[in-house]
Formats: sequence, C-alpha cells, structure tokens
Amino acid sequence: MYEQVSHSLLNDILVELKPEIGNQRLRHFYTRLGANFYAIHSLFHMLYGDRADFKEQMVSLVETLALRYMERSPALRKSDLAREKDYNWFLSQKWVGMALYCDRFADDLKGLRAKLPYIQELGVNMVHIMPILDCPPDHSDGGYAVRDFHKVDARYGTNADVEALAGTLKKRDMLLVLDVVVNHTSNEHEWARRARAGEQKYQDYYFVFDDREIPDSYEESMPEIFPVTAPGNFTWDEEMNKWVMTVFNSYQWDLNYRNPEVLIEMIDIILFWANKGADVLRLDAVAFLWKKIGRTCQNEREAHLLLQLMKDCCQVTAPGVLFIAEAIVAPSEVTKYFGEDAINAKECEIAYNATFMALLWDSVATKNAKLLNLGLKNLPEKLERATWLNYVRCHDDIGLGFDDKDVRLAGYDPVAHRRFLIEYYTGSYATSPARGVPFGENPKTGDARISGSLASLVGLESALQMNNEQAITDAIKTIVMLHGLILSYGGIPLLYYGDAIGTLNSLEYMADPAKRDDNRWINRSHFDWQKSELRRQTGSIEQRIFSALQHMIAVRKVTNVFADFDNRQFLTLENPNLLAYYRTDPQHSRNRVLVVANFNNEVQHLPISVLKPYGFIEQGGMKELCSGSRIAVENELIAVEPYSCYWLVD
Ligand code: GLC
Repeated sequence: MYEQVSHSLLNDILVELKPEIGNQRLRHFYTRLGANFYAIHSLFHMLYGDRADFKEQMVSLVETLALRYMERSPALRKSDLAREKDYNWFLSQKWVGMALYCDRFADDLKGLRAKLPYIQELGVNMVHIMPILDCPPDHSDGGYAVRDFHKVDARYGTNADVEALAGTLKKRDMLLVLDVVVNHTSNEHEWARRARAGEQKYQDYYFVFDDREIPDSYEESMPEIFPVTAPGNFTWDEEMNKWVMTVFNSYQWDLNYRNPEVLIEMIDIILFWANKGADVLRLDAVAFLWKKIGRTCQNEREAHLLLQLMKDCCQVTAPGVLFIAEAIVAPSEVTKYFGEDAINAKECEIAYNATFMALLWDSVATKNAKLLNLGLKNLPEKLERATWLNYVRCHDDIGLGFDDKDVRLAGYDPVAHRRFLIEYYTGSYATSPARGVPFGENPKTGDARISGSLASLVGLESALQMNNEQAITDAIKTIVMLHGLILSYGGIPLLYYGDAIGTLNSLEYMADPAKRDDNRWINRSHFDWQKSELRRQTGSIEQRIFSALQHMIAVRKVTNVFADFDNRQFLTLENPNLLAYYRTDPQHSRNRVLVVANFNNEVQHLPISVLKPYGFIEQGGMKELCSGSRIAVENELIAVEPYSCYWLVD
C-alpha cells in the first residue's frame, strides 16, 4: 500500500519534469529518489500541503535534486557509492578535525593548500574552513552574513580554488567541511536588495512588516542573541520602509521557511557545495529555522522537519555528504538534531557538543568535576549512526548553557554560579589566572557569555606576564588535559587552529571599526607562523603543547575503542575532582581504555577498589597509553597528577 501510494505520487511528479532530465544516466538517482520519496513528499506536504501551488513546488524540488545530480562528478558519485556501503565510515577514530579561517591561517585558499603539511603534521585530517562565501567587507559577521551563496569571496580565491583544494584533500585522505548559512542572508544579498526595491517575490523570502504590530508580538517571547550590539529581533529598513526580522545582527535578514521557494533555494545551495567537493556541510544556526509568535523561535518542530527534508534530499543527490548541526541549545534539545526515535541520523549526522564544551570550562574554573559528571550523565542518548563534534574552543563565545537542575544537584545556586564563572574567566575574580572578556552581557536577564582564546582562558597569558614557571606548566597541562578528553570521549574532536601552539588573545580586532564591537574576534587571530616554528624547539611552550597533542592524536588513531559506537561508560566515583569513563570494544569486551582526568591542582587518588568491580587491574597495575609508562599502584591507590588526563589500559 505504502509503496503503491509512493509510486503513484512519484510518477505524478516525474511526468512534469523538464525534458532534459530523464535521458541522462540517472539510475542511482532514481533508486535513491524512490527510496526517499515517501518521506520527502510527506514532509513537504506537512509544511506546505495547504498551498495551491504545492504540486508545482514539489516538481521544482525534484527538478533541483535531479539537476544537481546530473552535475555531480563521476569521482563524487563513486565516493557516494563507497560511503553508502561503508555507512558508518565517519564513526571511526581516525578522524580528527580542525576549524580555521583560511585568510587568518594562510592568506587564502591557495595558501591553505600550501599549509596542509602543518595540519597533517599534527595528525588532523578533517579541515573545517570557516565561511568563505562572498560577504560585504564590513558587515560580514565573520563570514556568516552571506551576499552570494554561489561564489567564494574574492579575498579568499575562487570556486575553482575550492574544487582544487577538495581534490588535494581527497588525495591525502582528508575531509573538507564547509559552512552553509541556512538561517539568514546578508542585507546585501540579491534577494534582500530586490526585496528592498519592492519586489514582493523577494519580500516573501524574509519576514517583512509594515508596522510594529507583529514584530512586537514576536518580541514578547524571543530572546536576544546579541543584546549589546544588535538588541531586539527586528530592524527598520529605511529604503523598504518596513521592519525586517534580524535575529542575529541587524544586517543579517532571517529567511522565511514558510515559503517553500526558500527551502528549495537552500537545498540547491547545499547540493551546489556538495558538488564542489565538500564532504561535510556545517549547517549554521539550525535551531532558528522556524519562527512562531509566542515562542522562543528556537528548536521548533518545523525546524526539525526542514532539516529532515534537507537530509532526505541530500540522500538522493549526494548521499556521501554529511551534515553538522550547529545548534548551541539546551542539552535536552541538542540530541534532537540527529533526529528522534531512529537509529540512523534523520537530520544531521554530527552535532556540536556544546554541553560538553561548557561543562569542561566549568570544571577548569571550579577545579572539580561535579557538574561535569552530572551534566554528561544526563545528556540524552544519541542515535547509533550519529556522532558528536567535541571541542574545547571555537570561533564563538562560550555560553553557560547547562541544565539548572544539574547545577543545583552539584550544590550551586544557578545564578550565583554563572556569575562566578563569568567573573572567573573575565578577570574580576581575584585568584583567577584566566584572561577572558565578557560577551553579550544582557542587563535585562543578567546573562553573559565569555570570549577568549584557550591559552588565555586557562591562564597561560597571565603566567607569562608573571613569568611564573609553575603557572605556565599548569596552563599547558590544562590545555593538554582538555584535548585528552575531546580526543577520547567519543565523536570527532575538533581542534581550533591556534590552540596547538598556545595562541593567546589577540587585541588586533580593536583597531578595526568593523570588528571592535564584537569581542569574539579576540580568539580569531592571524596564525603566527613564526611562533609555530617554535614547536621544533625542545622545551618551548609551543613544542610542549604541539608534541603532546600530536602524540595523543596518533595514539587515538590506532586505538579502536575510541571509535564512536556508543561504547562509553562512566564510572561513579566519590572523588568530585575526577572524571572517569571507559571505552570498550563492542566485539572484544576485554579491550578497553579507562580515561581519568583530574581537574584539581592537587594530586587525586583513584582507589583500585572502585575499578575492580568493572574488571580493571586484574593483573597488577595499568599502563598509560600516551606516555607508555606503567602507573604505580600504592596503598591500593592510583595517583592522578594535577591537570592530567590518563588513557589507561590493563
Ligand atoms: C553561528 C556562528 C556565529 C554566527 C551566528 C550567526 O552561531 O557560529 O559565529 O555569529 O551563527 O550566523
């Protein structure tokens, strides 16, 4: 029955397609379309079924998928087939990512090709190039205010450079990750310009209003994302003489997905970059895709339906391409971006693990793992064929989005505790070595977030100023420990480009009027190639960090249990300063790695009585995988050094 319905619906659409579609070699396309059509049609119908032009829009969607398939190169089609066969390929421990700005790291895309040896020396084989599409020079939000979705910004190179880079990466068995900014466009995008010029078709691409009535209703329940620099969620456009929804900056116009044409355009853009050779697409700000009066306009059910549609359509045309969900939302919401009640990811295969990231920063400040243990254990289970992107720092601020229930269980008052964290990281807490700055302080809600580079936030900057060897060592150890966790937790670790050489805050942005008001730029510095040379000098800070990360990455890659098969179990410990979990080979349960991290400034002890029930330490002591040394057991205790992460095997 289901098949029959699907079949006749599909035939109904196929007869309407443009004549040039159909006589090409589209065998795999039709097979995949057949397999996904019922879902695509149903989802599209749920969102747009009440429109008179529903069928026309459906035809236009299928045409888009077919035309982009016809354009897909033989090499990419081959890779699609291989990945369809080896469908869990991205769960392997062999993948290690790095996010970087191509201009700040290597001037431009050609320069980046030349710098790949550095990336590979570290062991990184997945490169997320921060947004590179055409943007206005000043109002660009670091590339997230796109003016032309089909064109690389001339400052970075050309579309051909992207293809060449993708080819080079492929030869080196490396992955290319590109951004698709799905939620908004720049106010200089052609659609926005035409909307401003009065074209109704393009005004319908956005949320445009004559007066404040509807905007005011929206505002009642919508939070502010950039309360200091872009308060409110609407901007008055002089030329159009109308209000337009701008959730992020005033120059970023939110797209209106109630209009199916917007969705089809965006699917076309996704497939365009898939065809340029991206292996993974990072879908920006996905939580915001659907707006409803009376709601926060985040995590709406329809946003999930849109993502399912995008995924199903990508499965038809470019099934080898994965999605990353950039959804920096509450722990209870984030796993929904994989999809719910399924085994395979239905929306995005990969999601930023912002909860883990924020919890790590809590532990660094409190020097204990109380909230970290609670928060991680309460993070909802993810799907089997889906994985986390685990990171310590990225280009954005650090939000303190943990669950208040957990904060209370850890023994803190949520408001006071968040205040402590902000003060700790922004230098107003007397004993803190951190040198961050407050971001997005909202006097109405009392919220604030934190900007700063990893090295400055863990105290390297202040330690250097004081010339304090011990403090320098502690900061280096903290950087290495945090990476020890993201490399072993389960998922793809994503390093940030300056972190392996201890890059400090950069104040350069303050001299640029276009950046001055956005202190996230403090952690988007020009990569210092001279400083990076010091990684070859034994005993230098750069060498101590770089070689430790390089070694851990190499060990991760040969340690099968670090592949993500939901094979992590937490240990329950009485010592609040330690986090411990173990990773088990699903096929050979004796093959395990126990990960233990000590966030405290004093040695902590792990009683072996805690480990024995789990079957560890049956034959004496344990070995630490990275150092290769045996860990002594004294008085039935394993000593875990301050700011250390051990990967232990029997
Ligand atoms: C994402 C990006 C951030 C940007 C925002 C708006 O959160 O990571 O840098 O400002 O989207 O596009």
